[in-house]
Amino acid sequence: MAYTYQFFQESADYLRARVPFTPDTAIVLGSCLGPFAQNIQDPIVIDYADIPNFLLSTVASHAGKLIFGTVGGKKVVCMSGRFHSYEGYDFEQLVIPIRVLKLLGVERVILTNASGGVNTSYRPGDIMVISDHIKLNGPSPLRGPNVEEFGPRFFDVSRMYTPELRELALRCAQDSPLTFHEGVYMFFPGPQFETPAEIRAARILGADAVGMSTVTEALTAAHCGLPVLALAVITNMAAGVTPGPVTGEEVDDTAALIAGPFSAYLERLVAAL
Ligand code: HPA
Repeated sequence: MAYTYQFFQESADYLRARVPFTPDTAIVLGSCLGPFAQNIQDPIVIDYADIPNFLLSTVASHAGKLIFGTVGGKKVVCMSGRFHSYEGYDFEQLVIPIRVLKLLGVERVILTNASGGVNTSYRPGDIMVISDHIKLNGPSPLRGPNVEEFGPRFFDVSRMYTPELRELALRCAQDSPLTFHEGVYMFFPGPQFETPAEIRAARILGADAVGMSTVTEALTAAHCGLPVLALAVITNMAAGVTPGPVTGEEVDDTAALIAGPFSAYLERLVAAL
């Protein structure tokens, strides 16, 4: 399906009619990072299912709600629940949420995710500020007719993880009990975790962490000129890095363990924007 500017406007018009302010920052909450939503003051909650032309979350650990409100004194909109190609969405469909948020008037996006650690100096529970990505799997979400109102057909992505936001993220990390790194995220489409051979290949290519999200949203944001900060929570060491299997339980358990300090960090970061 080819999307028109009007298609995205219909979703944004629905939201504008229900939210009496313009959020400055959009925050996408990754797997099991949903507890951050409790920090949002005066929340206005809108189900994805009610928004015209929006997508539906199909993953249990993703709530499927847009939450508008205040965090750290700043107006935000949080996506509690995101969309992945492994759910069966076409890459082209994955542009929808970020484009709708752009039309709402957000000035930047903060993307969070759960990732597997490829860099052997990382530990589960660490945070990686994404400096760049590798996406060799699957087409671009910007494939298909270009919607000129959002951005040009061909666009630069050499500074898409905004250096100023990365600097701020690392500065705010100094007050956090969590360990922070800066590194390269490699996209894998999932839903299976990677093989040990894929992880060895990822390391040779320069990846520090792997995951199944974020890159499509970051590319969509870069296309329409939105600054991006992306934070990967290392929930487990990737396949073959340690002897045991990679499990969804470990991902959930680590995310639950760091939810408190990570939410506190994110709130400080938003306050400092
Ligand atoms: N691989 C891909 N995605 C992930 C992982 C992983 O090891 N952990 C959390 N999300």
